[in-house]
Amino acid sequence: MARSAVSSLPRDGAPPLRQSLDEVRDGWLAAFRRVRAETEARAARLSPEDQIVQSMADASPTKWHRAHVTWFFETFLVKPHAPGYRIFDERFPFLFNSYYVAAGPRHARPQRGLITRPNGADVAAYRAHVDAAVERLIANVPPAEAARVFTILEIGLHHEQQHQELLLTDILHAFAQNPTDPAYDADWQMPRSSFGSRGFVEVPAGIHAIGHDGEGYCFDNETPRHDELIAPMRIARHLVSNGEWLEFIAADGYATPSLWLSDGWACAQAQGWQAPDYWRQIDGAWHAMTLAGFKPVDPAAPVLHVSYYEADAFARFAGKHLPSEAEWEVAARANVIAEGFGLAWQWTRSAYLPYPGYRAAEGALGEYNGKFMVNQMVLRGSSLATPQGHARMSYRNFFYPPSRWQFSGVRLAEFSA
Ligand SMILES: [Fe+2]
Repeated sequence: MARSAVSSLPRDGAPPLRQSLDEVRDGWLAAFRRVRAETEARAARLSPEDQIVQSMADASPTKWHRAHVTWFFETFLVKPHAPGYRIFDERFPFLFNSYYVAAGPRHARPQRGLITRPNGADVAAYRAHVDAAVERLIANVPPAEAARVFTILEIGLHHEQQHQELLLTDILHAFAQNPTDPAYDADWQMPRSSFGSRGFVEVPAGIHAIGHDGEGYCFDNETPRHDELIAPMRIARHLVSNGEWLEFIAADGYATPSLWLSDGWACAQAQGWQAPDYWRQIDGAWHAMTLAGFKPVDPAAPVLHVSYYEADAFARFAGKHLPSEAEWEVAARANVIAEGFGLAWQWTRSAYLPYPGYRAAEGALGEYNGKFMVNQMVLRGSSLATPQGHARMSYRNFFYPPSRWQFSGVRLAEFSA
């Protein structure tokens, strides 16, 4: 496993119980600075021109990510909770609101790449203005309001970490459209895969609780914790590798309609899919666009950039299934799988639905997760681009079945005879 630490981020620098309020403030200040700095560190490898580009409607420019996460703190934290806060620029909320209808009108997502002004320096000044306001609020919030303020701050930190991952997946998509094959980081290397015996392992059958267990942070979609019945089944210890995917290609998997869901086949035909996203053949050898640029495909590494439709077709080709998200979580909690975190998000066969009893919060922040609970599939684990400390057993990522630009891979399951 490339990343063994699975914990909730702000707790790393933030307060255990029974600390003084000053110590609590110090903990949140450190967490805030750490997360904000990580965003800037990821963006710092990119030129101002790189930071403007939007290569498709689903992807956003780096500059937009840097501004949007700042808008989130301005809108939900300092504007309502910091007395006398001055909005940095009254035009920015329209540009940098993403999908929060209750927070006001917003610019069309597919046109984010057209916004050359405000420029990068303006966005840097916006970040500095909001950073200063957040830091003043952390230092000065009255004790009676501290719990509410730090709760929203914590959501903002985890939100920014989600955009740190998107910053990388979005720029990789942009670079993959560039005939010069730019490298985000020429020294980047795929995290080491886990070795050890491959094959399938038993998942403990019976009734198991899944969902967030109350330790540390979670998003609302990980609750309520509830029971799920796990039938006797086995799950792959490792992720599907590029080498195994090459066998699928060689066996005409992309040209065999009986392996595909109807919607998946239609999508694969319409898009002309013949391999995972970013793969191209050079003199008969498959290469792929990576964060380090265009590289030969490593047969031992986990396959990346496959859609739900491809994952499902591969599973049928292999005579297996995708695990449900409950099966995945029970297996992860039982510690029977390798490569759960830090390499590739793993498609599950579970639709992204509310857990029994789930209720979204009131107000604009209630739009964070709940309104997306239709037509998407759940991915579990975390990827090579997930920030340190952001992953956890109960985390529910979700994307539409055709999506391929995330670091999405495959883990198989089989039902016991
Ligand atoms: Fe966002």
